[in-house]
Amino acid sequence: MKQTLLIFLLVFGFFYLQAQNHWQAPDEARQLKNPLSETTEIIEKGQKIFKSLCVSCHGENGAGNPVMLKTLNPPPANLTSAKVQQQTDGEIFWKITEGRGLMASYKNMLSDEDRWAVVKYIRQLGKNNLGPDRKNKVLKDVNEVESFSFSQLINAKTTFIRQTKGFGFGIQHRFGATKFDENMLKNFFGLDLASNIRFSFEIPINKRLMFEIGRTRYGKFYDIGGKYLIFKQTKDEKFPVSVAFYENIAITTENAPQYSGQATFDDGRLFEYKFYHRLYYDTQLIVSRKFSSKFSAQITGELIWRNLTPYVIKPEEKAYVIAVPISLRYKTGLTSAIDMEIMPNTHHRTIPVSLAYEIASSGNHVFQITITNSDRILSQNLFFNPTLRYPKDGFMLGFNLVRYF
Ligand code: HEC
Repeated sequence: MKQTLLIFLLVFGFFYLQAQNHWQAPDEARQLKNPLSETTEIIEKGQKIFKSLCVSCHGENGAGNPVMLKTLNPPPANLTSAKVQQQTDGEIFWKITEGRGLMASYKNMLSDEDRWAVVKYIRQLGKNNLGPDRKNKVLKDVNEVESFSFSQLINAKTTFIRQTKGFGFGIQHRFGATKFDENMLKNFFGLDLASNIRFSFEIPINKRLMFEIGRTRYGKFYDIGGKYLIFKQTKDEKFPVSVAFYENIAITTENAPQYSGQATFDDGRLFEYKFYHRLYYDTQLIVSRKFSSKFSAQITGELIWRNLTPYVIKPEEKAYVIAVPISLRYKTGLTSAIDMEIMPNTHHRTIPVSLAYEIASSGNHVFQITITNSDRILSQNLFFNPTLRYPKDGFMLGFNLVRYF
């Protein structure tokens, strides 16, 4: 009886130790998705953490510190190996979170976000283990600098083009004007008033080209746009800035404008509303630079053209506006930032000025609370309409939301 028990314990112990050697994360962990995307910023953050907490055992390149490989039992895992790289981000995340034996648990020392960032860096270490072609590509990717995280800041387009497949869905919403008076609460900060909204889809074709389509409430505009990235800023300063070309054509589907009396064309013919009168064009050359890990800035040369000019009503109105929007972004954390846009132009005496606070902007989505002095969103509409004068006329609240699928 005693012997059977002993054999049982030995066999059980053997399998128990075997099981111990193979460190398996639970199924729930495997399913976990990394909420961060593979941006240089996030990889750099992961690298920083790895260099301060992990290299002592896992080595500079992730394959293991030679001294520790000899002294620790079990030795530190080779993080570049297929055995580790084949695991999902969720499994690696779980192991860093829970730890085992000499591999400590980093649950309390690092935030969730920090641990996901380290996982992204471990992926880079894995890629370095690959053949030279792949390695060069990774090095090139890491050399490129992304000034912005989304293709649009508040109203202005940025030089950003999403580097992964899929599409983006965006909502830009602007509520009515409100100011600090007794009506502010009555109209609930302008949220009760008429508001403007634009829905849009963006489709990256490759790393340099994307298209977008949108629909805006005011003006009943449908718009279609394209952006091409001509240069991308690099860390070695070969290209100190990113430069992109952007073109958008919008068509208003609103009823024809009603002019009182007999309106005529320039040549005296009686005015009639033609299809091409509905078209508005927006052409931009965008130049951006990331100055530091926190601060990016951008300046755009923009020409907006409309085919129909209401000179019958306002003889001073021109068919075009030239604008020089300036956009600034200051990151206040890994997923938060303050954005600002100032848009001097030839049409307004008061210029569009907007502020936004970005909350929880990860690689896959952005959410911004905006304060603007115009409820217009499309450039074609924004620059031909008056803006509020801060602070006399108040301001407009709103939000921007983008989600990538
Ligand atoms: C004190 C040395 C030590 C330090 C510091 C350390 N590790 Fe480890 N790590 C180990 C050892 C030893 C193992 C193997 C554990 C086992 O299999 O029981 C391991 C295993 C791992 C694994 C699991 C690999 C597999 O087999 O699936 C990951 C992932 C990992 N470490 C990541 C990290 C990260 C990220 C850090 C820094 C935040 C870190 N380690 C810091 C010693 C260390």
